[in-house]
Amino acid sequence: MEENILNPKEILNEFVEEEEGFRHLNNPADGIKPITKKYLGVPTHGVGSGSKYYFTDGDAKVELIVVNEEIMRVRLAPHGVFLEDFSYAVPDLKPKNIAVNFFEDDKEFRVSTAKVNCHIRKADFFISFSDQNNVITSSDAKAMHWEENTQFGGYYVFSTKECHPDENFFGLGDKPTELNLRGKRLVNWNTDAYSFAWNQDPLYRSIPFYISVNEGIAHGIFFDNTFKAHFDFGGEDRTKTSFWADGGEMQYYYIHGPHMMDVVKSYHLLTGTHPMPPLWALGYHQCRWSYYPEAKFRAVAKGFRENKIPCDAIYLDIDYMDGYRCFTWNRRYFPDPKKMIADAAEMGFKTVVIVDPGIRVDDNYPIFKEGKEKKYFCRRSDDYFMEGHVWPGRCQFPDFTNAEVREWWGSLFDELIEYGVAGVWNDMNEPAVFGSGTFPADVRHDYDGYRGSHRKAHNVYGMQMVRATYEGMRKILKNKRPFTITRAGYSGLQRYASVWTGDNVASWEHLRLGNIQCQRLSMSGIPFCGTDIGGFSGEPDGELFTRWIQLGSFSPFMRAHSAGDTKEREPWSFGEPFTAINRNFIELRYRLLPYMYSAFWEHHRYGFPILRPVVMQEQDVLKNHFRQDEFTYGDKILVCPVLEPGQKSRKVYLPKGKWFNFWTNEVETGGEEVEVPTPLETIPIFIKAGSVIPEYPVMQYVGEKPIEEIKLNVYYSDYEANSFFFEDHGESFAYEQDIYSEKKFVVNGDESSLTLNQSMEGLYTPRYDGYHFKVIGLPFVPATITIDGKDIADFVISNEKVLEFKYTKTFSTLQISK
Ligand code: GLC
Repeated sequence: MEENILNPKEILNEFVEEEEGFRHLNNPADGIKPITKKYLGVPTHGVGSGSKYYFTDGDAKVELIVVNEEIMRVRLAPHGVFLEDFSYAVPDLKPKNIAVNFFEDDKEFRVSTAKVNCHIRKADFFISFSDQNNVITSSDAKAMHWEENTQFGGYYVFSTKECHPDENFFGLGDKPTELNLRGKRLVNWNTDAYSFAWNQDPLYRSIPFYISVNEGIAHGIFFDNTFKAHFDFGGEDRTKTSFWADGGEMQYYYIHGPHMMDVVKSYHLLTGTHPMPPLWALGYHQCRWSYYPEAKFRAVAKGFRENKIPCDAIYLDIDYMDGYRCFTWNRRYFPDPKKMIADAAEMGFKTVVIVDPGIRVDDNYPIFKEGKEKKYFCRRSDDYFMEGHVWPGRCQFPDFTNAEVREWWGSLFDELIEYGVAGVWNDMNEPAVFGSGTFPADVRHDYDGYRGSHRKAHNVYGMQMVRATYEGMRKILKNKRPFTITRAGYSGLQRYASVWTGDNVASWEHLRLGNIQCQRLSMSGIPFCGTDIGGFSGEPDGELFTRWIQLGSFSPFMRAHSAGDTKEREPWSFGEPFTAINRNFIELRYRLLPYMYSAFWEHHRYGFPILRPVVMQEQDVLKNHFRQDEFTYGDKILVCPVLEPGQKSRKVYLPKGKWFNFWTNEVETGGEEVEVPTPLETIPIFIKAGSVIPEYPVMQYVGEKPIEEIKLNVYYSDYEANSFFFEDHGESFAYEQDIYSEKKFVVNGDESSLTLNQSMEGLYTPRYDGYHFKVIGLPFVPATITIDGKDIADFVISNEKVLEFKYTKTFSTLQISK
């Protein structure tokens, strides 16, 4: 036995002999360097079938998923192991069962659908995409690469693509800068940005989706990565576009156009569309920090009705709460909220209340107690609670990335809803924390079971809060549509909420910025958006406020809001002539509600944006890539706000085709700029020839009176044009069961006649019986009107060459001739 016992020296010797070359230092890992900028090598293998393909350089792996004919997803695993596939933005990635062709030769691997080819170059693993005409639309300028993050683990992940001389970029949410992002470097990291400035970045929302237009062809990139993400559109190097993130996976969707509209529609296919809002939510909203006490709230309500200015919603900002504790009431200011809300409802007002994510640390506050007992609040890496100061003082914060917490949060709205609250405003959900700005990176999140630190969950926190709010309200309200609004968000937030652009400033620059931000949000998948009309901080004068009301009348979400330390800011606060003009525009909005609601339906059902900048109408005209004032609401009404003080007239570009000046009915030929007078009473508004614009009578609020007839404004055209008119109950989800009416109008005319056809789809029958036709712009004097074979004798031709008559709503074919 004894012979077998070796002394330590002998053991060492034996070891050294066996492991030749091993350095026996105290720290055997000495000299190991983190991975810096590692690029994909040469792809040695490519396999796959159906919708999934894998390529490897022997170590790293690239996955390609063919989602449908237009969309492919690229994903990189630096060491061959992909993270679990989970996305808040794309809840249900179901690749379509389509024909996909997989091809290999000595130059490349190629995966093709009928519309897109993805090329993986064998020399260097560069990935590019081409269309069915073999036009390359996007190509790597470097192979995908990564760099180790020694502090937090994982990798910084990078993708660099070629940027062409005339390539321009759009999208990315509400960046406060020019509409065209060419030359910019931008960051996505949700940030509370009080009184933000032109070019300030980042702001409240992160939408990692952009659209490129190059030589008339558009494609989109959706970089679905929730970490802090960066985009460079030919900024650092004119020939390169890059996007990268501080963690997570290099994972992006290539979305083929060729039109920008196709790209946006496909993006909505991935991330969902906005549900139909309650019709009243398209009305005018009045907000302020804050309307209190009750007497003030009632006075504002009365002010609207006395001034005969339509309004559907009044907001309660943080002062309605007891010490800013969510789900409580300050009973000194609001002794009987239920009665107050009911009285407001009697007058036709919906009440919308604010909630913030910060829950006051207070053991006498039931919400805090429950959250604490059930472990619903976020914690730091060492298990301490995440504590920070917000309005209520010291707060803890629910982890909205935990499904159970969302369920709980959603259930907390039962009392507010029982009191009659119709809408909920989610604020400060970047999340904002006074002093530090937001949570520290080490805060842990459930991330729906997929776990993550705040680095990963930060950008989705606000979206998950408003999701909890929306889903909770939807449950409590049963079949009624909730109305929610959020400040922060990530791609996909449009499934749960509308947004406003945050704490802007009462300045002309911010009016210009707001116009761009809404267009950009709209083309970035967030249709229901608006600015604080008048500017949140600072004081607008009457002219600025009125110009803002005019723009706001054509923002999908229309709300005036102002900070607590500003003067009164209701549409009548500036006296005449401003009050009358503000009233006129808000009335115009109410007249156009059926048109706006139809545009919303086109968004919800078909994924069209509501606001469409000129570049979306004519992307092949390079000059249009730099226009950012004009936009269309839906596809029929072109609006160009007045953005300068004292402006007497301005230039407006009209896309090709014929346009009617809304105010004068004069016809303009598009394809060039026209000079339009801009007295304070108007802004340039044009209607596309061939449009049928449905119109409601002016009401003080949605549903004030039964609608007895619909005005149909028919604009003559000498080519065929389609219009849609959507109607339903306006507040239930019955539309999901086809209880709606979608009417299609087709207009066509020549020098001596005009025909209008109507067809219908859906199971809803509106109560009114008839249409009041207003036919505008006939190039002939009408002598006969026939509707479904019947002659209409009763018609009037008014001064402005407008032909008017009435008929029942069920007609199929209408013909007007000389
Ligand atoms: C934030 C919001 C603002 C709100 C204020 C008080 O600044 O952005 O809209 O009025 O908080 O709640």
